[in-house]
Amino acid sequence: MTTRPILIIPEPKLRTISEPIAKIDSEVRKLVEDMFETMYDAPGIGLAAIQVGEQRRVVTIDVAREGEDKKPVALINPEIIAASQEMSVYSEGCLSIPEFYEEVERPARVTVRFLDIEGQTREVEAQGLFATCVQHEIDHLNGVLFIDHISKLKRDRVVKKFAKQARRAAPL
Ligand code: NI
Repeated sequence: MTTRPILIIPEPKLRTISEPIAKIDSEVRKLVEDMFETMYDAPGIGLAAIQVGEQRRVVTIDVAREGEDKKPVALINPEIIAASQEMSVYSEGCLSIPEFYEEVERPARVTVRFLDIEGQTREVEAQGLFATCVQHEIDHLNGVLFIDHISKLKRDRVVKKFAKQARRAAPL
């Protein structure tokens, strides 16, 4: 297992649409392993493949709290097939937008269909933090970031800040 560098905004790749996985081969299994390693190392509770530069519909999540046993979940080609009317609000963050947190409202419960690492089709009803996390990660596969769900004023401010940092970090 290897940790991979995480892309930070305004990296344009983060705005691209990821491709479905046609076959779960050793390369995909290696990607999933590396994503878990990268996510735990960060540390974060969710990661989409595009965040490590792979334009593929793969997500890793572990919403276990500190002190609890790890609950790693890998979702391949995940899609939301149902969402509750009821909404919930969480303060979200993103490994691609370090140290920025803002409240986002999303459906409180979603049903997600995906392939597991064995290639089996599964459906889970997600709620609580897991529901928020899975929606945040599936957004990544469609080039959407959580800051797209906050006010334009706040989004413009954070985008500007990261653009400035990127310019400062760029080699001459
Ligand atoms: Ni994110």
